[in-house]
Amino acid sequence: MAGNNRAIEEIKSAANIVDVIGRVVPLKRAGSNYKGCCPFHNEKTASFVVSESKQIFTCFGCEATGDVIEFTKRYYNLDFKEAIEKLGKEYGIDVEFKSGGNAEKNKLLYEINREVAAFFMRALYVPGNPGYKYISGRGLKPETLKAFGIGYADEEWHSLRDHMRKKGYDDKTLISLGLLSQKNGNVYDKYRNRIIFPIINTSGKVIGFGGRIIGDGEPKYLNSDESPIFQKKNNLYALNLSRKFAGEQDCAILVEGYMDVVSLYQSGVKNVAASLGTALTENQARLLKRYTKNVVLSYDADNAGRKAALRGIEILHKEDCNVKVLHVSDGKDPDEFVKKNGPEAFRKEVASALNYAEYRLEDVKRTFPPGNDENRLKYMKAAADVIKSLSPVEQDIYIKKVAGEQGISEGALRREVEQSAQEPTVKNYGPKKIPQKAKRDDNITVIERQLIKILTVEPSTYKEIAKRKHVFASSSGANIFNALYSRLSGSFGSEILDVKALADGLSSEDAEILKSIIENEPVAGNVEKILHQCFDTIACKDLERRRNELTARLDMIDNTDSSADEKAREIIEEIMFLNEEISKLKTHF
Ligand code: UTP
Ligand code: MN
Repeated sequence: MAGNNRAIEEIKSAANIVDVIGRVVPLKRAGSNYKGCCPFHNEKTASFVVSESKQIFTCFGCEATGDVIEFTKRYYNLDFKEAIEKLGKEYGIDVEFKSGGNAEKNKLLYEINREVAAFFMRALYVPGNPGYKYISGRGLKPETLKAFGIGYADEEWHSLRDHMRKKGYDDKTLISLGLLSQKNGNVYDKYRNRIIFPIINTSGKVIGFGGRIIGDGEPKYLNSDESPIFQKKNNLYALNLSRKFAGEQDCAILVEGYMDVVSLYQSGVKNVAASLGTALTENQARLLKRYTKNVVLSYDADNAGRKAALRGIEILHKEDCNVKVLHVSDGKDPDEFVKKNGPEAFRKEVASALNYAEYRLEDVKRTFPPGNDENRLKYMKAAADVIKSLSPVEQDIYIKKVAGEQGISEGALRREVEQSAQEPTVKNYGPKKIPQKAKRDDNITVIERQLIKILTVEPSTYKEIAKRKHVFASSSGANIFNALYSRLSGSFGSEILDVKALADGLSSEDAEILKSIIENEPVAGNVEKILHQCFDTIACKDLERRRNELTARLDMIDNTDSSADEKAREIIEEIMFLNEEISKLKTHF
């Protein structure tokens, strides 16, 4: 599945296995791991272990083992691609099965970001630096600075550049991350004279930075460029810290700015995140929904903030969240409000936030203040549009409410709602749409191609190949193999394959792949040899996979467990056996 690496890696780094499993299996901390009852076999004692550091689960009872994707596959009974798509959806990661394995590259990018974050953090504690003065002047306490990893970029042009060069990192990579700039062959620090807010994903990886200028200047905030590891639309600032509180309190507060988050968090309102300066996206909504469906938007009261709130509620409403909106009643933003009035006052604002219908109706009223008949009419029509987008019960409530307020008859408003030509802008209350069929994965492997080719030239091999059908892991490979298998098993391998008929039974994409295999895959005269090479490779891969599992299990044995030694010995014996088998097979290559 080489080509899907980007999405897979992204999902693995975004979807913390402890969260994913913890949602469906009650887990308890046990040393550095988590323990629970295995969902894959019946048991009363907890022998199911989840390792946060390794991001794998393993069961000492039934031997089930794997990573977050494997768990999702097995628990929800999905195939690999469906599991990726499910996790991708939940974590707001675009799962496009694009080619290009970037796992290694991404690792380097994360590493660089971490080093850069540490560099900026250290700079904040250099005695007498303007960064510390500025940020403590804005009321942030040392423990808050630490919790958020806040740092300082000094006024020099080459501080970061020289530091990273010394550490052996390439300017080019730092330029691609938007940390260094280049002009006329001169490479210099992009973030200067700024307070640095590292953006950290829910797996604790530094994916980008926001930098606020110290004092006045443009731009006020400088954000990381989009990169393979940072897509603004897929992340929320501070969710790494706040998701725990959002989950516990079953409510999340979304604000516009970095400082709003940090300030609220410091004051004790910790269930807070920010949408990174953009209007809220669908993916961000889905990401948040993982922790709570109750979302309060606390955006600035200016026009931009109101517009962003209107878009935000629409998106959250569509995602089936219970969304509310508030604009703080004092000060320009939550940061100012909470500094002046404290967390209790802010919580009161939250408690009186307007729900979806109320906020939209209030917005309509602001747009058409119903002082004269003309506006009243416009207001009615616009309100009818809003009401139309509500569930039937809500429609009833708000028809009564608006009619009462405006001194018009409920019947008139009801007719207006019914006639309202506009398509409902939000949730569809009709039957649920059938989810789109998963996108095709065209990453068919060489082995899959070779075996398919062999099946077409030497159909009698079908039984032997079928024993290893797990190798057909790409969807095209699996489809083509299944089509071939059902024909060949029907005729016990004696059929002369009618390739045309076979292709007719496949989708056009799969038929295309089959055609290219038949035309291009060179096995002629060598079938026997290639077949055995394929089988050896498969066997070797299977053994290696098993060995990796065992090595991980070994590390996850709970040393306080009385049978720890015995378990370890069994595993080590098997690993030694596997080592031998693997090296035997390797002599064949
Ligand atoms: P604001 O201009 O409201 O700033 O932008 P703020 O949060 O109140 O910042 P302080 O309190 O003056 O420090 C809100 C958010 O919009 C994004 C940032 O995420 C910021 O936190 N923004 C704003 C940018 O990305 N770039 C900008 O130049 C300005
Ligand atoms: Mn502010």
